[in-house]
Amino acid sequence: MNGIKLLATGRHLPSRCVTNDDLSRMVETNDQWIRERTGIVTRYLCGEGEGNTSNALAAARQALERSGLAPEDIGLCVAATFTADHGTPSLACELHRLLGLPETTPSFDVNAACTGFLHALEVARCMLASGTLKTRRALVVGSEVLSRLTDFTDRSTCVLFGDGAGAAIIELDENAPYACVLGARGDAEVLRCGGAGIAGDYIYMDGRAVFRFAVEAIPRCVEEVLDRAGLTMDQVDHVICHQANARIIDHAIRKLKAPAEKFYKNIDKYGNTSSASIPIALDEMLEKGTARRGETAILVGFGGGLTWGGLLLEL
Ligand code: ACO
Repeated sequence: MNGIKLLATGRHLPSRCVTNDDLSRMVETNDQWIRERTGIVTRYLCGEGEGNTSNALAAARQALERSGLAPEDIGLCVAATFTADHGTPSLACELHRLLGLPETTPSFDVNAACTGFLHALEVARCMLASGTLKTRRALVVGSEVLSRLTDFTDRSTCVLFGDGAGAAIIELDENAPYACVLGARGDAEVLRCGGAGIAGDYIYMDGRAVFRFAVEAIPRCVEEVLDRAGLTMDQVDHVICHQANARIIDHAIRKLKAPAEKFYKNIDKYGNTSSASIPIALDEMLEKGTARRGETAILVGFGGGLTWGGLLLEL
């Protein structure tokens, strides 16, 4: 099976850093509860003049610059988001215009909520492998502005979310290790938020039900991906889970009996940025040297839809 190679990554967080103490002045909460129940300490929210497109553009530009490629080298642009600035043009088409991508480069959004980046990677890989595109490289972005869908009078959700964007330039590579599992179970009861024309319809979540779903989904996805790749946990360098709650990741580590140091966590800084959390983590790890080129990682997503997925690739 054709795999993908990660050529470069980028990330962008908006300017407004909001602390737990800031939120405790808005709703009945406190720093200790938020830290202990979620692991979150700060999150970044969009301020004046910032939005999904500007965040995603900054992350995509950084990835493109680091790759040393020109816009003409990008044969496909896929953005994972459910909070695009417009229904249409899509976020991907906005990036297409602002980056000056060629007209032969198809550009579109995918919506699989917090699992969106994994879906975008797999869709991009399949399209690159199909041979119908002009090049073998794609720009894949995960970007959300959850603050637009957050009810800042609801303490059970407003402490959890952050805005941000992550981007990756990938290239089709016949020799790269790759495995992917994606799934869905339509369910609007435990997690949903506004659609077209539904003003004031904020994120609704049955936190405990989502928690139970997540702690079951992560180990299952990791085990299925390892099985498909014919590998054991010892042969994988990193596991990068969607950052929704530090306790969810800790549960998964215990269930898998896996070494905790393989599981990256940065939810303390950014909160839950949905489809952006995995590419932001990837970029941060590569920049800090926590992860290195040539190492392998399993990405694990879960969230609204409900959707879930696991994806093994070489960094
Ligand atoms: N500050 C203080 N107290 C709070 C807060 C808060 N911010 N929020 C809730 N509480 C209270 C509740 O009212 C409740 O009080 P009670 O016992 O008097 O009724 C108590 O704390 C416990 O509430 P729970 O909801 O049971 O708390 P829990 O430990 O489950 O933590 C949380 C809640 C953090 C939401 C957790 O359930 C969770 O992380 N769920 C998963 C969320 C997730 O992964 N979402 C991913 C998808 S998001 C997407 O797709 C966009």
